[in-house]
Amino acid sequence: MANVLLLAAFLLSSSFPSRAQDTSIIISTANTEALESQLTETKEETGRLKNEVDRLSSLVETLLSRVDSLSDELSGEKVRGAQLEQNLTRQIQKLEARLQTQCCSEMGPSPQGAETTANPRVTQVGLASTTVAGSSGDAQELKADCAAYKASGQTTSGVYPLGSLPSGVQAYCDMETAGGGWTVIQRRQDGSVPFNRTWEEYKLGFGNKSGEYWLGNENIHLLTNQKKHTLRIDLQDWEENQTFAEYSTFRVSGESDGYRLHISGYSGTAGDSMTYNNGERFSTVDRDNDVYSNGHCSQQHGQGGWWFWQCSYSILNGRYLGNCGSSCPAYQGVVWHHRRGVRYSLKSVSMKIRAS
Ligand SMILES: *[C@@H]1O[C@H](CO)[C@@H](O)[C@H](O)[C@H]1NC(C)=O
Ligand SMILES: *[C@@H]1O[C@H](CO)[C@@H](O)[C@H](O)[C@H]1NC(C)=O
Ligand SMILES: *[C@@H]1O[C@H](CO)[C@@H](O)[C@H](O)[C@H]1NC(C)=O
Ligand SMILES: *[C@@H]1O[C@H](CO)[C@@H](O)[C@H](O)[C@H]1NC(C)=O
Repeated sequence: MANVLLLAAFLLSSSFPSRAQDTSIIISTANTEALESQLTETKEETGRLKNEVDRLSSLVETLLSRVDSLSDELSGEKVRGAQLEQNLTRQIQKLEARLQTQCCSEMGPSPQGAETTANPRVTQVGLASTTVAGSSGDAQELKADCAAYKASGQTTSGVYPLGSLPSGVQAYCDMETAGGGWTVIQRRQDGSVPFNRTWEEYKLGFGNKSGEYWLGNENIHLLTNQKKHTLRIDLQDWEENQTFAEYSTFRVSGESDGYRLHISGYSGTAGDSMTYNNGERFSTVDRDNDVYSNGHCSQQHGQGGWWFWQCSYSILNGRYLGNCGSSCPAYQGVVWHHRRGVRYSLKSVSMKIRAS
């Protein structure tokens, strides 16, 4: 093509008198022609690429809208599930109310709830305790958490100061269960400490580190945001049967995010009553952060603080009702539904974390 053009240009130009002078013009004309044809080819190529890009982006759009509709479907399912549960809960509550008005004027012994066994002294003195277990007289070297104490050779369960928390904060270290080195964040065992507490109390922690306590949402947040943590929950019923639930990831976000729960990776023998609460903010009797539109989960379900959704299969901070078998008031006690149901209040529970 370029050669033909060159020849034509040459023949054409040979009829002009000043032939020698115009050689350069001929050549540059030929070059321009070549460039033009190249340009045309490039344009065609660009056109093809543009078509391809258009085709791909419409494909991407189709896929994105498919993803959108799938996630809509999913959240629809979540809402339907929640509605169904709400409906069932309502029906159960109605039946309960009917039963109570019809049959029983005598309700048996009043529950050994938090209020009847409350001992205010315990809760005030608890945090000031200075016991340091495992220190055989020597000054205890401050370690970040219970796992660090375990690693440094401490094998005795007890109360230790935690170096990774604000000065003075202590926790009970479980050095025996499943390899030890567990920092206990919650414990119930005798009902000596009331757990119907305010947002501020759950934030800072309360109770007795050698007995029943809550380590505090702020402390739990600080610990679980420094390293990836596993949560282990040990549960004991009144037949002394011991079971556990473990979650391979456990993190609590900060107060500005409502101490939101991030939990996943269940394994264990107690059943999974807590994945349900994943992604929920913490609620207390004086702060309703749940998404339950028909009420206030904390107030209605045992008055403890928890990561309620609408509402919960686990309420480990509910009222310590004692041994009322399977006929405790529903959703009021120390509840782990997948173990003994919502009408059973467990004898003892402890929640503990360890860096994984
Ligand atoms: C729950 O009850 C409401 C109204 O009573 C009803 O519209 C809804 O379909 C029910 N949801 C389910 C999942 O049964
Ligand atoms: C906890 O329960 C007791 C007894 O019912 C009550 O006096 C107290 O006000 C409750 N505390 C909170 C924070 O609701
Ligand atoms: C804390 O709890 C332990 C175990 O129940 C108990 O022995 C101890 O007296 C309690 N401490 C206070 C200060 O009440
Ligand atoms: C408790 O453990 C015993 C012995 O393992 C078993 O026979 C019993 O069924 C268990 N009870 C419950 C309620 O799980």
